[in-house]
Amino acid sequence: MAPILSTRELSRHFGGVAALNLVSLDIEDKQVRSIIGPNGAGKTTLINVITGRLEASAGQVIYQGQDITHKPVHERVRLGLCRTFQITSIFMGLTVFENVRIARQAHLGGSLKVFTPRHGLKRVNEDTERIIERVGLSDVAYQTASSLAHGDQRVLEVALALAGDPKVILLDEPAAGMSPTETEEISRLIRDLADEMAVVLVEHDMEVVMSISDTITVLHQGGVIAEGKPEEISQNQEVKDAYLGSEKWAPLVM
Ligand SMILES: Nc1ncnc2c1ncn2[C@@H]1O[C@H](COP(=O)(O)OP(=O)(O)OP(=O)(O)O)[C@@H](O)[C@H]1O
Ligand SMILES: [Mg+2]
Repeated sequence: MAPILSTRELSRHFGGVAALNLVSLDIEDKQVRSIIGPNGAGKTTLINVITGRLEASAGQVIYQGQDITHKPVHERVRLGLCRTFQITSIFMGLTVFENVRIARQAHLGGSLKVFTPRHGLKRVNEDTERIIERVGLSDVAYQTASSLAHGDQRVLEVALALAGDPKVILLDEPAAGMSPTETEEISRLIRDLADEMAVVLVEHDMEVVMSISDTITVLHQGGVIAEGKPEEISQNQEVKDAYLGSEKWAPLVM
């Protein structure tokens, strides 16, 4: 099957620094693709260039066979390329339900040809409930976002991305700062998402990465140094060397 998303020799420079250097990737549909690498490897830059937040310096981003390298962010979102929003984009004073409803309304308002207030609202409310149930936040649907545990706030970010009907969802360190239980829950959610869409996951928690990834790409100094299944990556000497001295990566340097 053709990949849903590819990068071809994608590069991004900041002054003299090559944050991304000739990165070519093929992302398959309905798979979890993790992007790992030491701090400063270029992982976030890759997500930013794929989603259009940053311009590529060279190379291409191909989505469903179409060159989207120069498309603006909102057009990529409309096509189904959604990343998690930063936590700051949650409306902290509103409930979970209200947050998701606003995101859903914004999405449908832009794409539904006929959006009558009466039918529209019913649909928006139903969709909102469905999305909240999907991510497991039903119990806290009517609590304000500010009162949620950190882990639930991060899950709410995922819900906001889901409101855009993504075909590819890109998650930048979704488990950061989570407790072990929260980490387990979001891991299960991410794995389940891949039944319906392609997942691109940037994550430092090696247990999460090793347990839920179909394929792992390792970035180091802006370039791809390895790609393969979790068991292949954990045995890869070049990968171990790249992480040497970095405590965070201890699980790999065994
Ligand atoms: N806006 C920017 N301006 C200048 N340099 C940048 C910018 N964004 C990233 N860089 C540099 O590009 C390189 C890659 O950074 P990036 O944030 O993509 O790494 P990362 O793999 O996400 O790291 P981390 O694991 O710490 O999140 C780093 O050397 C970083 O300092
Ligand atoms: Mg980063």
